[in-house]
Amino acid sequence: MSIGVQSPEINEHFNKLFSSILIEQQKFDHIKGPDEDKKEMLAAKLKEYEQLKGRGFFYPFMASGRGHGPFVELLDGSIKYDLINAIGVNLLGHSHPIYIKANLEAATSDTMMTGNLLSYQEPYELTKVLLDAVKGSRLKHFWFSCSGSFSNDTALKILWQKKAPNYRLIAFKKSFAGRSIAMQDVTYNQSYREGMPMSIQVDHVPHFDYKDPENSLKNTISALNELIQKNGNTYCAITLELIQGEAGFIYGTKEYYEGVFKWAREHGLYVWVDEVQSFARTRQMFAFQMFGLDEYVDVVTIGKVLQGAGTFYTEELNPKPGLIAGTFNGSVASMNAGKATVRYLKEGNFYGDNGRMAELETKFKAEFKKLSEGSCKGKIPYYGGVGTMLSFEVGDATPDTTNKFMKKLFENGVITFSAGKEPTRVRFLLPTAILDEHIKEIFSIIEKTIQEVI
Ligand SMILES: Cc1ncc(COP(=O)(O)O)c(C=O)c1O
Repeated sequence: MSIGVQSPEINEHFNKLFSSILIEQQKFDHIKGPDEDKKEMLAAKLKEYEQLKGRGFFYPFMASGRGHGPFVELLDGSIKYDLINAIGVNLLGHSHPIYIKANLEAATSDTMMTGNLLSYQEPYELTKVLLDAVKGSRLKHFWFSCSGSFSNDTALKILWQKKAPNYRLIAFKKSFAGRSIAMQDVTYNQSYREGMPMSIQVDHVPHFDYKDPENSLKNTISALNELIQKNGNTYCAITLELIQGEAGFIYGTKEYYEGVFKWAREHGLYVWVDEVQSFARTRQMFAFQMFGLDEYVDVVTIGKVLQGAGTFYTEELNPKPGLIAGTFNGSVASMNAGKATVRYLKEGNFYGDNGRMAELETKFKAEFKKLSEGSCKGKIPYYGGVGTMLSFEVGDATPDTTNKFMKKLFENGVITFSAGKEPTRVRFLLPTAILDEHIKEIFSIIEKTIQEVI
């Protein structure tokens, strides 16, 4: 423990508290229905919160702060499988010792937040482990932001400054880049920017088409060439998610991405990869590493699993003083947890063909195969994904059917989230802390729910 104050007494309390919390949290290790006397309390709190927020929630979900591994407890006392993990944040699973320890260590510190301008050792150490993790690439610097959207804004500003006045940006159809004023234009879904003025000029080209893999690269390149013909070479960069998260995990091949990135290079455009959702979740720590694209990336953004967010960039793209700053890096606890998480993932057996991420992918896909060829034949038209980013379709894969299915699945004890439109998919952002017996139970609940709804 190197944060904050230390003394033999603090260390003794710390160790006792750490183990007591772990022991208590471990009790939440199985699914269970709500407690009769708490049902109304959850309903009342949610109703009031919905009024305060001005909108409803998709699920009747309010977490109690208790949970273990893949399990989360809600305020009504029910315990469910959490296979979406705050939309991809809690990769290690609920009450993982790394999260608890990071919080406790932060409690010995004198403040809550670390800043960009007056630093602490936690962001410094986290920056070192992150840059070490990308040492096979040309990425040389890392800058913290407080959200994935803002890390993308930082990326765009850096690219704009370098390429001024070439401010146009190329993005991909079905992409999601966040909610800031600039990122809502990078995001493909128009309903996310209803009533907004256009703030930046973005052109969207087709991504890899898993139904027409052979022609995908040709189609993307011809759309790219058309853009240059139409607008001249007024572009700063090409931005993409290698695994499109909000689209339901659409992804291409190494050859496809290499073709696109070579085109970008030939035309003097920088390559910016958005790994806010994919960071730490694929068969390598970064999806660009999994596809062997290290030499191409100029800017990479991350968030979620980091317990923070930020932007990697090359030496060449280091911006002029004054362009990027901001009060917060993140909290002491989140920087500390980010550092421990990255170290743990790098040093443990998580990546590569025999790593934990590949193992989870294989096990889940095998269960999907069994269901889709057996008792649920004709009812699961698609399943796929990479590492801990997996998705599947049910029935006609419309938003209505998928939402109905997910709500029933929630009631039956498994929390997921949807992604994509035409088709709409059920999405998992799995925790690594999931045992074989859990996988068995999860698939028996999925099977039962499919029989009930589809
Ligand atoms: C690929 C991608 N980029 C950017 C964002 C935005 O991140 P945040 O919600 O932290 O602003 C997300 C969030 O889901 C994302 O999936």
